[in-house]
Amino acid sequence: MSETEENLPSERETPHEGAVGKADNPFADPGLPPHEHRIQDIDERAAKRSERTVAMLFLVSMLATVAFIASYVAIPIDKIVYIFPLGHVSGLNFALGLTLGVALFCIGAGAVHWARTLMSDEEVADERHPIEATPDVKAKVLADFAQGAKESQFGRRKLIRNTMFGALALVPLSGVVLLRDLGPLPEKKLRTTGWKKGVRLVNQSTNLPLRPEDIAVGSLTFAKPEGLEENDEDFANKIAKDALMLVRIQPQNIKDKQELAWSHEGIVAYSKICTHVGCPISLYEQQTHHVLCPCHQSTFDLSDGGRVIFGPAGHALPQLHITVKDGFLEAASEFAEPVGPSFWERG
Ligand code: FES
Repeated sequence: MSETEENLPSERETPHEGAVGKADNPFADPGLPPHEHRIQDIDERAAKRSERTVAMLFLVSMLATVAFIASYVAIPIDKIVYIFPLGHVSGLNFALGLTLGVALFCIGAGAVHWARTLMSDEEVADERHPIEATPDVKAKVLADFAQGAKESQFGRRKLIRNTMFGALALVPLSGVVLLRDLGPLPEKKLRTTGWKKGVRLVNQSTNLPLRPEDIAVGSLTFAKPEGLEENDEDFANKIAKDALMLVRIQPQNIKDKQELAWSHEGIVAYSKICTHVGCPISLYEQQTHHVLCPCHQSTFDLSDGGRVIFGPAGHALPQLHITVKDGFLEAASEFAEPVGPSFWERG
């Protein structure tokens, strides 16, 4: 007897007609081709290979979990690494995401491979029982319905019946009317702000134009465009895009070349609107030049192009190019990119 014949399934015979015959399986469809056994069912060596593959996937998952724990312990929280094509990202977040992803993927892949190649390959037919009600039951239901209609006086009280139909027809309109609040679309409004070349920076608290000497080292100063007043009709919408924060950093501590070029004597101006979902950023850590969004803890490095170093924000804070004219700080251009969350850009 050849090895292949030896390994033909014995205990795992399928009830499909091709394996056991129509007499044993009265529901087998005679039009179907015979059941084809998987290579693992007829070749023990193939079954062993699949077993090793599944075990390897589970083993990789175990190693990935160990790597996850090791990363959590070993990688400093502020370690930044360059990963192509992601750019600068948190090394800890990257390692945790990668190792956890591999661990979960390998468990899933191992389970799927196990089920597809080694678990039972039986085809089972089951009789479908009639679900139609018997004539007696149908007659009872109709009689109950007629009795209910009679007792409710639905046919006789036409005023009630018609007004009920009217109420039921109108009530869904409330939901339809609420759809109006989904519009109008913002179109291009979210792509632009009140900042453009020559607009002075005004202190948001004192309403006075800002001079470079007003920006002290270690403090966070909030600014708005000159001319934007709190009693303006559309002030809330405008300040939601225009709000700016300024800090002074030693120029030699500014890591990003473009940031340095767009600054004035170490004064840098960034949008105050978090790029996650748009909360105003308000916490500044002067030692690290990090700013923190209080909503979901996104953290940005103002000494390195406003890039995200922690949290759910998807991209860096936009920087405003500033300069000085007649002793006052002013914008040298508008923002080079839309401020706020990226979904704002979908006008
Ligand atoms: S809105 Fe800033 S982190 Fe979510």
